[in-house]
Amino acid sequence: MYRNNTNFKEYIVNSRLNYFKPNSKVEKNSFADEISEGLNQNSKFIQPKFFYDSIGSRLFEKICSLPEYYPTRTEISILKKLQSDLPNFLDGDFRLIELGSGSSTKTRLILDILSKNQSKLEYFPIDISEILTESSELLLKDYPKLKITGIIDTYEGGLEFLKDYDSKNNLIIFLGSSYGNFSPDDGLDFLIKINSMMKSNDLFLIGLDLVKDKSILESAYNDSQNITAEFNLNVLNRINNELDANFVLENFRHYSIYNDQKQRIEMYVESLLNQTVTIGKSSDQIYLKKNELIHTEFSHKFQIHQIENLLKQSGFNLIKIWLDDKQHYSLSLASKN
Ligand code: AVJ
Repeated sequence: MYRNNTNFKEYIVNSRLNYFKPNSKVEKNSFADEISEGLNQNSKFIQPKFFYDSIGSRLFEKICSLPEYYPTRTEISILKKLQSDLPNFLDGDFRLIELGSGSSTKTRLILDILSKNQSKLEYFPIDISEILTESSELLLKDYPKLKITGIIDTYEGGLEFLKDYDSKNNLIIFLGSSYGNFSPDDGLDFLIKINSMMKSNDLFLIGLDLVKDKSILESAYNDSQNITAEFNLNVLNRINNELDANFVLENFRHYSIYNDQKQRIEMYVESLLNQTVTIGKSSDQIYLKKNELIHTEFSHKFQIHQIENLLKQSGFNLIKIWLDDKQHYSLSLASKN
């Protein structure tokens, strides 16, 4: 039934839960190497993927329910509208493929739509970790006809694995405006990659945050309870804990600003004084000047016509864009072409 893919090994947990992991541990750069590389540049950076240790993931969950952080709430409200709309675009049964294992609230809203009209239900989350959590158990409990197949790999690796996997229809979802973290070039490459693994009946649903009043954007990333600050600064804590570094968190502050021209929130940690930080027992000394910025995240925002162009440029046929009443956020549905 399954394509014999020798690069991945299947692990069966039970009759409704299995997962695939790549065999060849293609040695990726370690956390230590990537951090050291980013901090030894003239313009220092730490990649946003490193926010999500267990504390960071918990803080992100908190961000999602902050009054100022409209994206999560708004995306959920649009997903609720899709309950009646999406079935019109689904010809036959669809398997749900999610890039990232997602928040179970959103996954459930899509599973609700699918399960209403089909007798079998399959969910394939693609994530580098965090797939086989309690949330899978809960999903299996609440959706009796559901089968979950986790793909434990990078998005690219997972997509490669799923290319020519079988002939079933796939609904691929990429929610939460996670796409906003990509640079425009990398983002386009990524969409082309997704498009190239899709079959002609597959569908792609992407959630993108929209350009809006600067004050709304900036307060979403500078909340009054300082949770975003804690989330941002936590990456330094993580480096202290995992790489035996000695960042003194009091000597840094969270800084985020909307760049109108680039249409993105830019997040940094700012050094409050001239200081030296040592990473590991090695002699990796990082010198930081007062007010020097370490870049930690870009969160790009889009205009409708840019979304249309982006999808077109990456080979998609845009089927429909849904917005909330305030036009703060978008969900776009596209087919291969
Ligand atoms: C998970 C990348 C979509 O950019 O809004 C939230 C991360 N950073 N607050 C975003 C984030 C600060 C979030 N994404």
